[in-house]
Amino acid sequence: MDYEGLKIPTHVGIIMDGNGRWAKERGMTRSQGHEAGFENLKKISKYIYSKGIKVLSIYAFSTENFKRSKEEVDFLMKLFEHKFKEYSNQMKEDNIKVVFSGKKAHPLPDAVIAVMKEIEEDTKDKTGGILNICVNYGGHLEIVEATKKISALVRDGKLSLEDITEESFSHYLFQDLPPIDFLIRTSGEVRISNFMLYQLSYAEMYFPSIYFPAFDEASFDDAILIYNKRDRRFGGIKDENTNH
Ligand code: FPP
Repeated sequence: MDYEGLKIPTHVGIIMDGNGRWAKERGMTRSQGHEAGFENLKKISKYIYSKGIKVLSIYAFSTENFKRSKEEVDFLMKLFEHKFKEYSNQMKEDNIKVVFSGKKAHPLPDAVIAVMKEIEEDTKDKTGGILNICVNYGGHLEIVEATKKISALVRDGKLSLEDITEESFSHYLFQDLPPIDFLIRTSGEVRISNFMLYQLSYAEMYFPSIYFPAFDEASFDDAILIYNKRDRRFGGIKDENTNH
């Protein structure tokens, strides 16, 4: 679809939900569903950047996802270990910087942490856009960690209380990104599940019933058309002639 004349969000967030149900409907395993989700992610993210979106944040694995069966967690960790690199090479070709949000620590396997650090280093000078992959991520955790960083600086006399503002707070989050303009959660679940709580404050949200492996370019076009129908007021009023 031609996006000429449409409002393009700067920062899009996607909660990639429904891999398991997509697979079950096809008599496949959950692991195959995650593989299909990854293949779709490669395609859809390329399309998203080609349409002028500058920042894409995706929820790959939450702190809570460690509660899943050992078999599923192990499979996803192996997928990350092997596929993050392949994915970041695609991003590099398109001049996209890849960053990770979340704690690069246990219970993530060392091999996954090493790949994450290598990719951040490898793509740090790219300027065409940002891909933020949330792994071992939680929104509460992110705010608590930022608070700890700030508290330590204040304790050591390196930061004064007056310097802690709504603008400066975001420097202490896992990544300093612009606010999310548009959140998409596939599979029909209507909740945000601890995803980027600080950055979502004024985001428009859209919950299509389609499962993530099937969320294709046409589905993203539909999403953008819906975003364009939304009236973003950020707490103000848009039409000054509104009757009271
Ligand atoms: C949610 O679907 C999906 C996940 C917890 C994993 C998301 C991961 C991917 C799409 C792969 C990304 C890979 C890379 C390398 C970035 P679900 O399993 O909760 O589905 P269900 O609700 O239908 O069970």
